[in-house]
Amino acid sequence: MNKDFLALSQFSKNELDGIFTLTRELKEKQKKGIEHHLLKGKTLAMIFEKSSTRTRISFEVGMYQLGGHPLFISSKDSQMGRGEPIKDTARVMARYCDGVMIRTYGQEIVEEFARYATVPVINGLTDLHHPCQIMADLFTVIEHRGGYEGLKFAWVGDGNNMANTWIEAAAIFGFDLTLACPKGYEPDAAVMEWALGRTTSKIVLTDDPQEAVKDADVVNTDVWASMGQEAEQKKREKDFAGYQLSEALLDLAKGNCMVLHCLPAHRGEEITDQVIEGPHSAVWDEAENRLHVQKAILATLMG
Ligand code: CP
Ligand code: NVA
Repeated sequence: MNKDFLALSQFSKNELDGIFTLTRELKEKQKKGIEHHLLKGKTLAMIFEKSSTRTRISFEVGMYQLGGHPLFISSKDSQMGRGEPIKDTARVMARYCDGVMIRTYGQEIVEEFARYATVPVINGLTDLHHPCQIMADLFTVIEHRGGYEGLKFAWVGDGNNMANTWIEAAAIFGFDLTLACPKGYEPDAAVMEWALGRTTSKIVLTDDPQEAVKDADVVNTDVWASMGQEAEQKKREKDFAGYQLSEALLDLAKGNCMVLHCLPAHRGEEITDQVIEGPHSAVWDEAENRLHVQKAILATLMG
């Protein structure tokens, strides 16, 4: 097993399915109030260079439930915000902590941190990937649908970190994925090339949302402007017109389809209030499962 959790591509299907198995066990224990202190006495540092609600709270609560201790570190209040090199911070933190979770901008930052840290490093979102989120999303699909095999997944919107990690997931787990992104907002070309080179599942990129959603079992979207892209909000609102997940668009999907959104959502932009609050929406289960899946990731890497 890889030391770190930086991208799904570092793992085999078996390893990731093993994380789902442990997730199920830990979720059941937590629901029944059975103690599961798999990380007793261990400390996780959580470094945030971007805002967070779910990631921070789910990792913090998760470490507590595992009998360990979480430490919240905002990069701007630490020496990282004043330019201390990543490689120095990584080596020092590894002397104090048993694991580090980072939310930052470039994927190369988490990679450099992981190279210098002798303890597991977990990607809590970069501009390129959001692997913990897609694990929670897939676990939610497994819970609702009994598995992911044979299901058709659709992505509508920006070819962003979420889209990139869905592409890796489709290649690893072997399900079909169609992404509809406006021209100029396609997913990362290297991620796409990696995925197409290792899989026989159909991973299709189009600019037609109707093509993507047609007969889909799982329909996914995310904000049009991610963290760090706030200045492009107005331009993106224009460029993404027609990419809203509305009831009319969802009507093209299978009758029992699931709607996923990693949250936070911008109602009236990438998704309508009716859809996110509607009968197909699984977004609250999805958000809850961040906690359970990440506990399994933590226990697997740090246990
Ligand atoms: N989905 C997600 O990562 O949410 P936060 O930005 O609130 O952590
Ligand atoms: N794509 C979004 C996801 C937020 C959880 C962002 O990076 O801001």
